[in-house]
Amino acid sequence: MITETEVADFEDWGDAVQKAVGVLQAGGLVALPTETVYGLGADALNPEAVAKVFEVKERPHFDPLIVHLSSVKDLSTVAVVPEEIKEVVEALAKEFWPGPFTMVLPKTDAVPDLVTSGLPTVAVRVSAHEVMQDVIKELGSPIAAPSANRFGRISPTSAAAVQEELDGRIPLIIDGGASREGLESTIISVKMGEKRPEMTILRPGPVSKEALQKFGKVFKYKPASAKNSPEAPGQLPSHYAPRTPLYLFERPEDFKPEPGKRYALLSYRGMEKDGYLDLHEWETIGCLSSGTGKLAEGAVRFFYMLRYMDSLGVDAIIAEPISETGLGVAMMDRLRRASVQDS
Ligand code: TXA
Ligand code: MG
Repeated sequence: MITETEVADFEDWGDAVQKAVGVLQAGGLVALPTETVYGLGADALNPEAVAKVFEVKERPHFDPLIVHLSSVKDLSTVAVVPEEIKEVVEALAKEFWPGPFTMVLPKTDAVPDLVTSGLPTVAVRVSAHEVMQDVIKELGSPIAAPSANRFGRISPTSAAAVQEELDGRIPLIIDGGASREGLESTIISVKMGEKRPEMTILRPGPVSKEALQKFGKVFKYKPASAKNSPEAPGQLPSHYAPRTPLYLFERPEDFKPEPGKRYALLSYRGMEKDGYLDLHEWETIGCLSSGTGKLAEGAVRFFYMLRYMDSLGVDAIIAEPISETGLGVAMMDRLRRASVQDS
């Protein structure tokens, strides 16, 4: 299969939208831009199209997909919001949609079981990318879209990165520019507590815990076991992984280089005082946000840098920790899951 890339002109993306809709209507897959990362889109209400997503990504069937709407108005086609959480769900939607935010809610019968891996719930998001919104509107159906990478690999934040991941496997990539958030959406589940709504962060992302606290109590998801289990979808410990082994050392002194091996450093700010720069004769030093360190810049560059460091052909990538506030939480989550784990 030849993979074509169609650039969505930032002043008039109508042609690109039409092309994408044509493929989706015929049950095909299209890689689409969103503000977080590129998604591998299928008509969410067409089970055969959705099945192709799992095939192309080599994704296990127990890992459910996110369903994208063009507007919160369509929420009732895919989700049934229980009465007791209606108010908080509406408030959250108003605050964070369109945006990098996903809610897990009870699903309607319209959503094929394949999308949710048989779960009674569906993950829903309204993306802020106008091209994505228009494709959904024109298609007249929600779009199921996981990140457009092969399973377990680095999420793509540009059309070129999608090409690297899925060339020859899909007919069309819509190039809508670099993803401006750079990290996947925050995923939460919501229920009513004794007094206030309770939210559990299933995956940290651009919408921080602090931003959610205004709406109720916020919990961090703790998997019952580190092993892959159906009740912990999306929480697979090994994920976002470069081919080059990546090690995250919380303290510089934990790094013990092996003689003759070539190491690259993934640094947050590239500052000597962080203690990693002078630790070794690094093959390369890549900075997420050089200088004072800006979390938003680091997030935008995060997957791009991982991909770049992975292309160097070094023996290992050594990652410096990032302080865990705001977007730092999401980046550390990705680094931990990208790193080599002893288990
Ligand atoms: O920003 C994003 O969320 C991007 C863009 C493309 O929208 N999408 C994305 O999808 O990151 P994906 O498939 O790479 O990750 C979605 C995660 C999955 O790991 C899945 O396990 C979790 O969402 N998920 C989906 N449905 C769920 C459900 N019903 N309950 C719990 N988790 C769910
Ligand atoms: Mg993914």
